[in-house]
Amino acid sequence: MQTIETTGRAGSVIARCRKLASFSEDPESTRRTFLSPPMHECHREIAGWMEPLGARSRVDAAGNFHGFYPATQPDAPRLLIGSHLDTVPNAGAYDGILGVVLAVALLEELRGKKLPFAIEVLGFSEEEGVRFGTPFIGSRALVGRLDQELLSVQDSRRVSVRRAIEEFGLNPNEVPQAELKNDTLGYLEFHIEQGPVLESLKLPLAAVDAIAGQSRLELIFLGKGNHAGTTPMQLRHDAVAGAAEWISLVEKLAQETSGLVATVGKIEAKPGTTNVIAFEARLTLDVRHSSDKIRSCAVADLIHQARDIAARRGLSVRETSLLDQPAVAMDPFLTAEIEQAIRKTGCKPHRMTSGAGHDAMVLAERVPAAMIFLRTPGGVSHDPAETIVAEDVEKAIQCGLHLFDQLALSQEFQQRTSRA
Ligand code: HGY
Ligand code: MN
Ligand code: MN
Repeated sequence: MQTIETTGRAGSVIARCRKLASFSEDPESTRRTFLSPPMHECHREIAGWMEPLGARSRVDAAGNFHGFYPATQPDAPRLLIGSHLDTVPNAGAYDGILGVVLAVALLEELRGKKLPFAIEVLGFSEEEGVRFGTPFIGSRALVGRLDQELLSVQDSRRVSVRRAIEEFGLNPNEVPQAELKNDTLGYLEFHIEQGPVLESLKLPLAAVDAIAGQSRLELIFLGKGNHAGTTPMQLRHDAVAGAAEWISLVEKLAQETSGLVATVGKIEAKPGTTNVIAFEARLTLDVRHSSDKIRSCAVADLIHQARDIAARRGLSVRETSLLDQPAVAMDPFLTAEIEQAIRKTGCKPHRMTSGAGHDAMVLAERVPAAMIFLRTPGGVSHDPAETIVAEDVEKAIQCGLHLFDQLALSQEFQQRTSRA
């Protein structure tokens, strides 16, 4: 990881992100999946930061961390601020983590001052979808969608979500209690952009107006295993060759469709040895677009093309949908407030759509949700080279404090109640 400044409050945020990133399943890199043991260390570390603020910490039955900072009045509604604490394998130190650490930093900067609304810091247990193939397990619990079907999904070691919750020391039967009550005014998420836009505009912050929809699927091409040396090419039913032909069409469709991104991030061959023609190719597909119609048409087209290739090559192909997450608009009121707060930091407020998925798109089902992006140097994310600019962290802290001031004076905001 690049050495960057760690003095002052921005430096403390960066140092804390890197501390949380050190809690990993892997000794040489950052990997923290749903309720793996390092998540306990994360919770302990964050609770330790919250304790001096007079905030109460707890972990809900879905493994989400909650840190509650009371308001001036005991029964005041609350504003949620947070992000996710899980990571992809070989991750950077800021994706998700920064949003939780910044939330704590903002509370520290209040220096004991209370607001007309409580603040609840949230650290979601699983947003990436690494362990179980399906994302947003943590935030889905808050909107009442961590259902029995999802609790039964198994990981590669055949451990179910339910069992993983039990192994972490929590009670899956209490998952329904994790659902948001009707006292939530909104949800704010600070997050790195994870792309090149803000850097190209030379801007530190942006207000997110919408989050692109995403489809995640698994496809399995089945052919006929055989000897790599004795089987003539015209007699083969090679699952990997069929998958490879399809993968090049995935890339071609995305290159030819404006605003569409499509990725085959994982491919596994069976039996997976040099001198055997693979009988199985198991792969994932990730398709995103800000228009749900364009995204759905692209997925349907790609499935159709996979079937054509399979038929021509004497293969079969089976697809399983892992996620069909519609695009989500962020709350207009909060987004306008964010733009105003960015302006007060002396920066030009920029609005943009997020290509990455975020917990805010799930929370938006229940409460007004909004996001603030921080510039990602080099546009690199989901990699140890992911980094941040200390001055941008300082601007984000200023923006958050302006936001608190604005919302504390806003009757409109404080009279809102979350959509039941
Ligand atoms: O994959 C994503 O969109 C995000 O990083 N979870
Ligand atoms: Mn991510
Ligand atoms: Mn993220």
